[in-house]
Amino acid sequence: MTETTTALVTGANKGIGYEVAAALAAQGVTVFLASRDPQRGEQAATRLRATGADVHPIVLDVTDPATIESAATSLTRLDILINNAGISGPTNEPPSATTPRTLRDVLETNVIGVLTVTNALLPLLRRSPAPRIVNVSSTVGSTTCHTDPAHHMSGLPAVAAYPASKAALNALTVQYAKELRKDGILVNAAAPGACATDLTKDLPFPITRTAAEGAAVIVRLATLPADGPTGTFHDDAGTVPW
Ligand SMILES: NC(=O)c1ccc[n+]([C@@H]2O[C@H](COP(=O)([O-])OP(=O)(O)OC[C@H]3O[C@@H](n4cnc5c(N)ncnc54)[C@H](OP(=O)(O)O)[C@@H]3O)[C@@H](O)[C@H]2O)c1
Repeated sequence: MTETTTALVTGANKGIGYEVAAALAAQGVTVFLASRDPQRGEQAATRLRATGADVHPIVLDVTDPATIESAATSLTRLDILINNAGISGPTNEPPSATTPRTLRDVLETNVIGVLTVTNALLPLLRRSPAPRIVNVSSTVGSTTCHTDPAHHMSGLPAVAAYPASKAALNALTVQYAKELRKDGILVNAAAPGACATDLTKDLPFPITRTAAEGAAVIVRLATLPADGPTGTFHDDAGTVPW
């Protein structure tokens, strides 16, 4: 990695994205801290700059193609893209109670947003000597875990939108990896594990894992060596089944 390595992290004004931005910046990476709200982005960047980080706030709403294009045209270099921005949607709605609108909204952010951001930034990534894309997924997107009676996930209440969005994101990760392997762009999905953030604050069980702990696997996949894997799904412990 050179001193000029540059990363963009979506949804980086708080939670896991913020910690990814902090950890990459601590490694000397120049970080574009993308946030849909200019004020929240500026505040987060100011906090990180106070630690000596080379961090630049940038406005980017993953559901708004105009902000994505504007962010892309404002950059001159990009080595690492972290597709982190995400929403949970309702956490207690089974498929039979989920409206098309709810599913569409969650897919719009968690899947279509990733496609739009990635495609807008690919021209820059293609010019990088070591391009990496990390899609922030979830073990909740693992169909294998949900259908394995021995896995605790098979016992969780059925929910439509979020698991479907992360399963779709996993599929997208594999297809991007297939396409971009020949260009040396490593594309992987990360499962940060259940972390205490605003996304999980209403869940009916305590979560003690921190966002910084969840960020570690994302940072590892973002800084893989040239012979590192592509088209994989990883958590802290290793490979997660699709
Ligand atoms: N926390 C967990 O246990 C956990 C586990 C597995 C996977 N994940 C994944 O980790 C990622 C980060 O989640 P988190 O736990 O850190 O949640 P969080 O604290 O709620 O942060 C989510 C971030 O995404 C941003 N965001 C939401 N919609 C956006 C949009 N349309 N455009 C741009 N940014 C948008 C939010 O911005 P605002 O501040 O403006 O709302 C915020 O910065 C998500 O993809 C999530 O699915 C989390």
